[in-house]
Amino acid sequence: MTEPKHFLTLMDLSANEIHSLIKRAIELKSLRDQGRPHKTLEGKVLAMIFTKASTRTRVSFEAGMAQLGGSALFLSGQDTQLGRGEPIADTAKVISSMVDIVMIRTFSHADVESFAAHSRVPVINGLTDDHHPCQILADLQTYFETRGEISGRRVCWLGDGNNVCHSWMNAARRLDFELVVACPEGYDPDAKLLSDCGNHVRVERDPTEAVKGKDLLITDVWASMGQEHEQTARGTRLAPYQLNRRLLDKAAPDALYMHCLPAHRGEEISEELMDSPGTVIWQEAENRLHAQKALMEMLLASRSPLG
Ligand code: CP
Ligand code: NVA
Repeated sequence: MTEPKHFLTLMDLSANEIHSLIKRAIELKSLRDQGRPHKTLEGKVLAMIFTKASTRTRVSFEAGMAQLGGSALFLSGQDTQLGRGEPIADTAKVISSMVDIVMIRTFSHADVESFAAHSRVPVINGLTDDHHPCQILADLQTYFETRGEISGRRVCWLGDGNNVCHSWMNAARRLDFELVVACPEGYDPDAKLLSDCGNHVRVERDPTEAVKGKDLLITDVWASMGQEHEQTARGTRLAPYQLNRRLLDKAAPDALYMHCLPAHRGEEISEELMDSPGTVIWQEAENRLHAQKALMEMLLASRSPLG
């Protein structure tokens, strides 16, 4: 049996694969808008393991699999034997013998790697403390739909150097664009990843300097899942990095801004920008559905020809 193709970080896809995935996601979006069936994964079963909360990831994977003709099962970490200490490797062997593809959202990235190492079917990272690659597929689709090619563009991340930021850093080196991460000391992205990204990514302390002339500004919550107890301290340190009209006005005249959601209005993003009629934030959220349908097709196609 061939080794399954996993999607644990954005680096698991080549630039060509990302481009063709986005093209297919846009096609799938149009098929759905026209009400045309696209049951390319008939009979396939997706297992979704969650040990963290989710709205978008859960609904987009479950609805997406149904629309492709397959089905999805939701497994909460608490309700499975994983929550009672059954080893990840044993769980991976068993679950992957019964389903066609697995999605996991959890804390430790090493746990997802370990699951994948023992799985005989493709494993998708639905968010770990270190990466959120599915989000970036949807974000890239949104950029391509509204502005075209992102290679050569200039992007600024504002706020905590977190999991979503890390996946954007991988996008910068895969697709060859410049990413400036604007954050205070102590909130830097991972140092090893930063050095792996070479000239594509740099850290800037001054938010006003960082956003100058950029084509895209991105932010995310200041306290990620698992960091809720640090909310107050983070709020104080990260306040100057709020994505708001003042900073947006310093970016390129047609700059876009994104947020993966859920958002805290008035904290990492101003209420005005969240509720602006021209925002692509809702398009970005919807695109989780289309991009992940294309992703599941791609990962399963590498195992058997699509019908
Ligand atoms: N953006 C995102 O992953 O949302 P959920 O936490 O609701 O899945
Ligand atoms: N950085 C956030 C993203 C949520 C989708 C978190 O990890 O909670």
